[in-house]
Amino acid sequence: MCGIVGYIGSRRVVPVLLEGLKRLEYRGYDSAGLVYLSKNGLVKHRAAGKLVNLETKLDQVRETASHIGLGHTRWATHGSPSELNAHPHSDCNGELVVVHNGIIENYHTLREELQADGHVFKSETDTEVLAHLIEEALPLSRNNLPAAVRRALKKVRGSYAIGVLWTGAPDQLVAVRSQSPLVLGIQENEGGGSLLASDIPALLPYTRKVVFLDDQEMAILRADGFEVRSLASGRKINKEIKTIDWNPAMAEKAGYTHFMLKEIFEQPQAIMNTFRGRVEPETGQICLPELDLSDREIKKLNRISLVACGSSWHAALVAKYWLEKWVGIPVEVDIASEFRYRRLILNENVLVVPISQSGETADTLAAMCLALQKDAKVVAICNVLGSTITREAHGTIYTHAGPEIGVASTKAFICQLVALYLLTLYLAQVRGVMSASQRQTMIESLVELPPMLERELPGWQEEMGRLAEHFVKSRDFLFLGRGENFPIALEGALKLKEISYIHAEGYAAGEMKHGPIALIDRDMPVLALAPQNGVYEKLIANVEEVKARHGRLILLGSRGDRDLARLTPHVIYLPVVMPDLNPILYTIPLQLLAYEVARLRGCDVDQPRNLAKSVTVE
Ligand code: G6P
Repeated sequence: MCGIVGYIGSRRVVPVLLEGLKRLEYRGYDSAGLVYLSKNGLVKHRAAGKLVNLETKLDQVRETASHIGLGHTRWATHGSPSELNAHPHSDCNGELVVVHNGIIENYHTLREELQADGHVFKSETDTEVLAHLIEEALPLSRNNLPAAVRRALKKVRGSYAIGVLWTGAPDQLVAVRSQSPLVLGIQENEGGGSLLASDIPALLPYTRKVVFLDDQEMAILRADGFEVRSLASGRKINKEIKTIDWNPAMAEKAGYTHFMLKEIFEQPQAIMNTFRGRVEPETGQICLPELDLSDREIKKLNRISLVACGSSWHAALVAKYWLEKWVGIPVEVDIASEFRYRRLILNENVLVVPISQSGETADTLAAMCLALQKDAKVVAICNVLGSTITREAHGTIYTHAGPEIGVASTKAFICQLVALYLLTLYLAQVRGVMSASQRQTMIESLVELPPMLERELPGWQEEMGRLAEHFVKSRDFLFLGRGENFPIALEGALKLKEISYIHAEGYAAGEMKHGPIALIDRDMPVLALAPQNGVYEKLIANVEEVKARHGRLILLGSRGDRDLARLTPHVIYLPVVMPDLNPILYTIPLQLLAYEVARLRGCDVDQPRNLAKSVTVE
């Protein structure tokens, strides 16, 4: 996890680093630190906890006119989240510093070897070995920093994105990428300088021109430009400069109290962005050229395998219902960390779909690599342009949710559902198993969703606010659903537990009798998703069982369904849409419920404890 940022140029470096770190804090916030080069050498400031602690420390520091430095925000993997373990980490005499995102797998052996050679370590981190290794390599590389970094990294196993600064090379920053993300920001005007960061939002206040480093690439950044070299051979590599069309305001809170709330309210627009240009409501045609699969290859598919983690896995579970119903192909759904460790029966007639907001989740990435090795066709669903998963997959369907900053996924999840819905319609179209008029109906229903959500959102927020007041003190929560709404029960429970710390479980309503019903008493809130669909009556029967045991029922159901009010005073009515789209519709009030409960409990909604936005370690 962790976020790294670096700058060299004519601006004062400290504000650039702090601004960058602010925008990367979603990647981890166990500690923060920065370093800059002054007349008297390297100056390091570090603080445990959130970035604000570092900022407070820096308030007491005289302004510096330094123009080169590195920053880091940490999500602890090796060593407690203390100041001592905060990055940057230094070599023995404090002349060289490293910031790092990733894990050095053989750090223990390297550390012992270095200690035997007289190196003294100050932290418990895996990162510190990098500073000492480069220190050792410098004299052997004629004090050429890029060459020393290359030499040192030959000994290292693991994943890393690093930034290196050395007093002996005061006009350059060296950065390397191996499995952890790294993007360069390229000056747009004279003197603008060069930047490096783990993710695009940190670069946006300064430039929209970026270069994505690939694995095993090294960048040398100077105030007036940059070069990229192969880590293995040292040969120069020509890189494409890409222009990012997000503006900085898109990554701000835009007046909402939290990013999460802003992102919930952005969902109508995000849904539109995801289907725009890909659907033709008049003809019922779906266009997904980015799949990069020929019609012949699509017709030969005999299985689909969806892999993902967290909320993205819930999106995969919903898609199983859609794909099997409309495309008629068997679908497997795996948690990526499990997929990796079972016997995989894959071949070129299996379509593997890794689903990931960030495109950097380590387990999803590893699962995808296995699928590629076994010759499966791989089409990713991803939100982050140029992320690792998108670069490895044969094709990518981008969700156009825009940057998602809140750690709990909201709009990215909804857009994953939209992308999977489009994938379903497209596969059905190519394989000739769905009529154009059926596709037309399904596209029209999708196109009607954004304006409907726009109308509903403010009312839902009020209703969920009221509901939250009733249930804010609950210790546990059950969410029930059936069919394609069962994964939404899981997602509702995940949202609540991750941001409000209330213990919550999602269950297939039919499973209640097999255990969870034992939990029901007068204190247990049970929220059931009860739209009028094919399994409505079965679900209501399960709800009756909860009522009979005095559970505190909350029902989300179809507007006009008069029966629900008989069961509980807590009913939220939602518009009636085609059943396939209920998972999209019913997720949103659950996001708002989690948000309102967490807000009332005074929780840190955007940065819940122990979590990180993008889990780039196993
Ligand atoms: C973390 C985030 C979740 C996300 C999951 C998978 O746990 O907090 O919101 O669903 O990772 O991330 P991905 O980027 O692969 O979708």
